Amino acid sequence: MSSNQKNIVIALDGPAASGKSTIAQIIAQKLNFLYIDSGAMYRAFTWKMMQNNINIDNNTELNELINNTHLVLKKGFSIKVYVDSLDITTKIRDPEIDRNISIVAKNDLIRKALVKLQRSYQKNYNIVMDGRDIGTIVFPKANYKFYLEASIEVRAMRRFQELIAKGKEITLEKIIKEMQNRDHADFTRTIGPLKCAKDAFRIDTSELSIEQVASLVLNCIKNKGNKS
Ligand code: C5P
Repeated sequence: MSSNQKNIVIALDGPAASGKSTIAQIIAQKLNFLYIDSGAMYRAFTWKMMQNNINIDNNTELNELINNTHLVLKKGFSIKVYVDSLDITTKIRDPEIDRNISIVAKNDLIRKALVKLQRSYQKNYNIVMDGRDIGTIVFPKANYKFYLEASIEVRAMRRFQELIAKGKEITLEKIIKEMQNRDHADFTRTIGPLKCAKDAFRIDTSELSIEQVASLVLNCIKNKGNKS
């Protein structure tokens, strides 16, 4: 891979807590690429819709919200998410957002607006983007595609530990149930469903450490070279 080439896309897709965002951030840092968390965008919209009590079935209200929402992902020590200049980085990780996001993520108008925003980053940067439809819909011609997965038990335990560390009161059973619901919604929606792209490198992270997954991904990138 040439160090001064621009517009390289590394796509990482997979279900919740499969390790995508952790790995994407490591890869981005190692390669000096820009990391874009597309899930954070859906979370930010969900947050704004909940704040404004928007009726998702009212296209006029929805279009107005889309046109009047200024969404910014800022790179710092970690990624910060701003909506209309307000820092909502912590708020978008609330379990209440997880409970409401599926309805927002299956909306055609919102997906179109966010896919456009996601594609815009490629114009000026080399990017690592994670999500559900990055290798299939957003960047079907991405230079490198990865699909990360893990058993529901492992993924739920990861999320449980994250939330407990943040002082949230939640049970593992509840997380399993909610994750299964979100997986189902992600896999079965008509627009932009979660799918492993045919040409993606598939990794089951259940039994692997973060370092092992990161080195698998980096080796794959190194061995494949730049196909663009
Ligand atoms: O990646 P994360 O778990 O933060 O994503 C939250 C939700 O946002 C997903 O469950 C999915 O419904 C939605 N999403 C999506 N398409 C993406 C990224 C996230 O529909 N590219």
